[in-house]
Amino acid sequence: MNLWVTENIDDIIAAIVVYLIVSFFLILIFTLYINRVSFIRSLFKIVQRLLFMLLYPILLITALSTVALIPVIVCLIFGHVFSFSGFIIDAFFILVLLVLAFIIAVGVVFRLPMTAKEQQDTIQYEKYGVLSSWGALTRAYHKRIGWTPMVAKRIAPLLEQIQKPEIRMLAPAANCGEEERDLAQLLSAHIHKRFLVTLCDINEMRHIETQDDGRVSISYHTMNAFDLPKFLTQTQDVIYDPKGILWFPRGKEAELIERLRLFYDLLDDQGMVIVDAAIGSGWKVFINDLRMTYNLPLTFYAEVSTYSYINRFFTPGSVASSLFTLTLVDGLDGPYGMAVLKKVPNRLIE
Ligand SMILES: C[S@@+](CC[C@H](N)C(=O)[O-])C[C@H]1O[C@@H](n2cnc3c(N)ncnc32)[C@H](O)[C@@H]1O
Repeated sequence: MNLWVTENIDDIIAAIVVYLIVSFFLILIFTLYINRVSFIRSLFKIVQRLLFMLLYPILLITALSTVALIPVIVCLIFGHVFSFSGFIIDAFFILVLLVLAFIIAVGVVFRLPMTAKEQQDTIQYEKYGVLSSWGALTRAYHKRIGWTPMVAKRIAPLLEQIQKPEIRMLAPAANCGEEERDLAQLLSAHIHKRFLVTLCDINEMRHIETQDDGRVSISYHTMNAFDLPKFLTQTQDVIYDPKGILWFPRGKEAELIERLRLFYDLLDDQGMVIVDAAIGSGWKVFINDLRMTYNLPLTFYAEVSTYSYINRFFTPGSVASSLFTLTLVDGLDGPYGMAVLKKVPNRLIE
């Protein structure tokens, strides 16, 4: 049986070498100019998004082709060669090569922002980015399930314990800030206290206006959360941080501790951090990750919760436990799950 692939192996190797050289130069251009030229940055985000959207259909086609190849291989093993056997094996080999090239491209393009230091957590949320519709899709899902009123009702008793006439609330990775505004208004109505809310996000995006209705005063700032110590003049009572600053280390301990220390220093001694702790199967998360990729309405979250990333570090005697105690908020489960990290006051300074 003559295979096209074996007859043209030299050309195939040459094509692979050209692919690697061209990719190298494209990566170099993106890495060098991603922050300097806005056109390159936008182009990068569009390429990244297209590759990501194509990934799943391509994996599906490969899986189906593999199934189609099985009878041909079985017949070959038993010595039966069809007239089309060579064509099917050739087609499969070429498909595998293309898929490998594609997966390498996706892998590199997704890691590239890491090379362009500290871009990883933010570029995807910008216009054209893979997660640019994260805020709208998640908020629409929350509205459908009545999330904010339910969460406000259960969080209110925690804030009632703060012995102050006004509550200072900070959301350091607020995205557009709509949900934080709604939550603060509901909390203020529950506990009859004025809320002074500071919202910030590192990305330029459409966001709520600075406002004050007498019960809730809100200011929004486009800034990096790590600059907050220089910016804030008073300590905070609550840091509201679902899928935010504590989420991004994705379970890496050193980074998480650095961020816990940042929050520790920003908080008053009675202060607390509130994070998401939704419980749902990995399958549900995967399906909603796909839905997010194709801009379809969510039926759950597209990512695991902050609680599931940080929980394992709060063991007795750990650094995390010396800074905060972590507990789930009573009466909230499924997509409503939330957790609270209460500050351990007067920590010994090492
Ligand atoms: C998944 S969204 C969560 C938004 C919000 N906490 C919520 O639950 O709706 C994460 C946000 O964190 C922002 N972000 C990431 N790193 C940041 C940083 N260092 N400082 C401020 N914002 C940051 C991103 O731009 C993005 O809008």
